[in-house]
Amino acid sequence: MSVPVVYRARAYDTPDDPFDPATAAPGFRYDDDLGLAVSDDGVIVMRGPYAAVAAAHPGTPVLDLRAGLLLPGLVDTHVHFPQVRVIGALGMPLLEWLERCALPEEVHLGSPDYAATIAEEFVASLIAAGTTTSLVFGSHFAPAVDLLLAEAERYGLRVTTGLVVSDRILPEPLLTTPDRAYAEALGLASRWHGRGRIRYAVTPRFALSASDPVLAACASVLDEVGGSLFTTHVNENSAEVATVAGQFPHRDHYVDTYDHHGLLGPLSVLAHDVHPTDAELDVMAARRTSVSWCPTSNSALGSGIFPLRRHLAAGVRVALGSDVGAGTGFSVFKEGLQAYFLQHLLGDDGMPLGAGHLLHLSTAAGAAALGLADTVGDLSEGKQFDAVLLRPPPGTALDLGLRHADSPESALGKVFALAGDADVAEVWVGGDQVASGGFVRPVTPREPAAPRRPAG
Ligand code: GUN
Ligand code: ZN
Repeated sequence: MSVPVVYRARAYDTPDDPFDPATAAPGFRYDDDLGLAVSDDGVIVMRGPYAAVAAAHPGTPVLDLRAGLLLPGLVDTHVHFPQVRVIGALGMPLLEWLERCALPEEVHLGSPDYAATIAEEFVASLIAAGTTTSLVFGSHFAPAVDLLLAEAERYGLRVTTGLVVSDRILPEPLLTTPDRAYAEALGLASRWHGRGRIRYAVTPRFALSASDPVLAACASVLDEVGGSLFTTHVNENSAEVATVAGQFPHRDHYVDTYDHHGLLGPLSVLAHDVHPTDAELDVMAARRTSVSWCPTSNSALGSGIFPLRRHLAAGVRVALGSDVGAGTGFSVFKEGLQAYFLQHLLGDDGMPLGAGHLLHLSTAAGAAALGLADTVGDLSEGKQFDAVLLRPPPGTALDLGLRHADSPESALGKVFALAGDADVAEVWVGGDQVASGGFVRPVTPREPAAPRRPAG
């Protein structure tokens, strides 16, 4: 193992959970002259005061990043690949928005040429936002999912995704059958699961569009593809919840439509959960299933305000998702800010969030939800060097704010108040630099590598 570079930086991360009462305020770790020695395979092999790390690595080139702020790479636990171009449609509730905006666009991904273009736009948008790890809602078309994964691989992103499956209610081109859903999912998983930083996620769109036979096919895939994730939507909108209750009269509740098939476990992520019952929270906690909280989407669609306090009290793990394209952009910072606003507005029912909570929700909590807590999420020794350098353009409010901040906590608050894509200067995944000077750059040639044997 060699160490080609030592990074010198002002850095924040959250190795301890600030929601844990045992964690001391302010709930984040800050170092104003940190050294990180990163091996050629992207692992942080030494962390400490810069002087100590430099002394332990004489002659190793040093990259001085102190003109900006270094954070762990951001983790987006719920983002839709085919929806890059529908961001920003306002004024509709979920089911109308799906029918008028999202689903017609998703039909277009049946064209591989179009899907390839969207894959390029989607992956570049993730990187530009500083997102290094994501759980991505794929497409209903298997070739489109192949194209997305080839593009993610070209940049070395940590992406977990899969074929979205449904057999009712949606436009006809988006429908499948249980047999086809099973065969296409296994085909994709055999080509991609465990290849580099890519994993497979079993992805029924939501119980409203997925009958019991399709959910049973999903359970078979989950069983057969060891280490695969499960993701879908739940309890997002009151009309949706009522419809699902009518479709599944023999299930205890919405969460049970999935749990009945054995789909919930520690590698399951349910998006939204704005309207859970206590019984549903108990099931999710018992299964150690995570919830992806999507604050801007919930606001844009008027879905409701996420009951964070109830989730935490029940012991349900929570992380953030952008939910592009109902969400209003790829920036996980914006999700953090909206999360803060909404909890503040809830008053006594809300959970007061400080800058440390927001950073944790945006990084380590996401890594834990995706089963990657030992790999990424903070900048500790032994973790992969997944990181974002924020360097705001001179003279912008964030630049001025950071230069004049009176404490590390106020500086981190300014990051969540003001940071956006324009401030993301450099991005690394596993030590590979995938954005430089604000421009994305692939780490491997365009041709996807030859398919490998099935994993797991
Ligand atoms: N429920 C089912 N599909 C979707 C989707 O595309 N976006 C959101 N926000 N909710 C969904
Ligand atoms: Zn969604």
